[in-house]
Amino acid sequence: MEIREKPIGIFDSGIGGLTVAKEIMNLMPHENIVYFGDTARVPYGSKSKELITRFAREAASFLMKQDVKMIVIACNTVSATCLEELREMLPVPVVGVIEPGARAAVKATKNGMIGVIGTERTVKSGAYEKAIRMLSGTVKIFSKACPLFVPLVEEGWLDNNVAYFAAKVYLEPLKEEGIDTLVLGCTHYPLLKPMLKRIMGDGVVLVDSARETAAEVAQILSERSLKRTGTGPSCYRFFVSDNPEKFIEVGERFLQRSIDLISVVNPELR
Ligand code: DGL
Repeated sequence: MEIREKPIGIFDSGIGGLTVAKEIMNLMPHENIVYFGDTARVPYGSKSKELITRFAREAASFLMKQDVKMIVIACNTVSATCLEELREMLPVPVVGVIEPGARAAVKATKNGMIGVIGTERTVKSGAYEKAIRMLSGTVKIFSKACPLFVPLVEEGWLDNNVAYFAAKVYLEPLKEEGIDTLVLGCTHYPLLKPMLKRIMGDGVVLVDSARETAAEVAQILSERSLKRTGTGPSCYRFFVSDNPEKFIEVGERFLQRSIDLISVVNPELR
């Protein structure tokens, strides 16, 4: 098969990476996609660097076996933990979600005060701070782990009292610092956008790294002449490591389209 016609591989710890897949589908409707969600081992956000790195290597190897032309690490936690290792290991372009989000944040801020929210591992890694600092030495960064957001989104509690009060407690300190830009540094957070916008107010720009990542994928495909030329209908295949029923139920909410081709795999098997 000609390389341009091959699918884009996307992986995440589970369902959340569908926010990135959705933006890629919207921006590049002719591309084929193979998505792997590690639903048996999610969440990654509270696990150690070593374990996350092993899981990520297995997911990437699985996607390479599906003959993908590039790999998108849709998971912020994985991108924050082992992006460089995966880039060294893989023979195809690898895109993470941190750099695109950091670039968009630096572009958006006017007062130089940026907030970053994510899982415990993402925040602990300091990856967003590092990426933002590479782009601007003067901005101030305030980070906050919001571990309750992932289960709230998976439960579909996007804007009820429980979600609202949790978000208030997490975000009030960032608001008090006077940030004018907030990076949604986790796959699940774009679904909370309307509520987060209400809490933060109109003066704060919410940076959605899923959208920025899709733009970077488009740019790389175009620069490297990897854009699919076929205009026939695109094919989306989904693989999960457990519980496809839950993936379909919650995933269709994330994706806002139906999930038809889904299989269960064990990424540990080589
Ligand atoms: N996909 C993860 C992220 O973007 C969130 C879910 C998890 O903790 O595995 O950080």
